Amino acid sequence: MAVRFNEAEFAELKNLLHIYEWGQRTLLTKLNIMQDDFRHFQENNPIEYIKGRIKAPESIAEKLHRLNVEITAENVREHLKDVAGVRIICPFAKDIHYLVSLLRAMPDVNILDEKDYVSNPKPSGYRSYHVILEVPVFYSGRTEYVVVEVQIRTEAMNFWSTLEHKARYKYQDHIPQHLCDELVICADKIAELDHRMFLIHEIISLINQDS
Ligand code: GTP
Ligand code: MG
Repeated sequence: MAVRFNEAEFAELKNLLHIYEWGQRTLLTKLNIMQDDFRHFQENNPIEYIKGRIKAPESIAEKLHRLNVEITAENVREHLKDVAGVRIICPFAKDIHYLVSLLRAMPDVNILDEKDYVSNPKPSGYRSYHVILEVPVFYSGRTEYVVVEVQIRTEAMNFWSTLEHKARYKYQDHIPQHLCDELVICADKIAELDHRMFLIHEIISLINQDS
């Protein structure tokens, strides 16, 4: 099985990617409004920054190949949940669960799945909260629900995950054991650092309240 889309399927995929992009844009708009509200009207802002990405066709084809299904646009819809991705970076770990509660409260967003790798880190040391959700997009005279994967993490967790991802890529998923061990140690230290920074933030907040 060739790890690429044939010409006809690639044309279909290109159309489909527009729809994922509209879904992603819809969610980004909602999140940007939320962030503006926090900035202007609330005391604390649990959103540091937000990023969006659409999965590249080559990565989409590779993932379908890994899943052992034919490389077709239909299978993208059926099997992939992370074509449209949004990453939210929070100042502190406790902001992550708060943001998830806000996503759950959005009336026109349906949560399909959640994975809490913040409370239950992966054996690799990976920490992040994943939410698979769908947002309504109105086009061609009808509403379609578009699936978006949201990853919520702190800047420190993001720093770790970017480096670990690079290592994974470099070693083609077979990172030597000593590096895996070191990455787990770093992930734990990062979690501790996130916590200690949060405590400092709490102390500063108390001082501000007194003055
Ligand atoms: P895929 O890993 O994407 O096939 O999906 P899955 O069903 O296994 O979901 P999971 O929640 O495990 O991972 C989804 C995404 O989270 C991945 O595509 C990565 O972007 C990220 N991720 C998950 N585990 C790790 C990890 O150990 N290290 C890093 N750097 N990223 C991870
Ligand atoms: Mg995985």
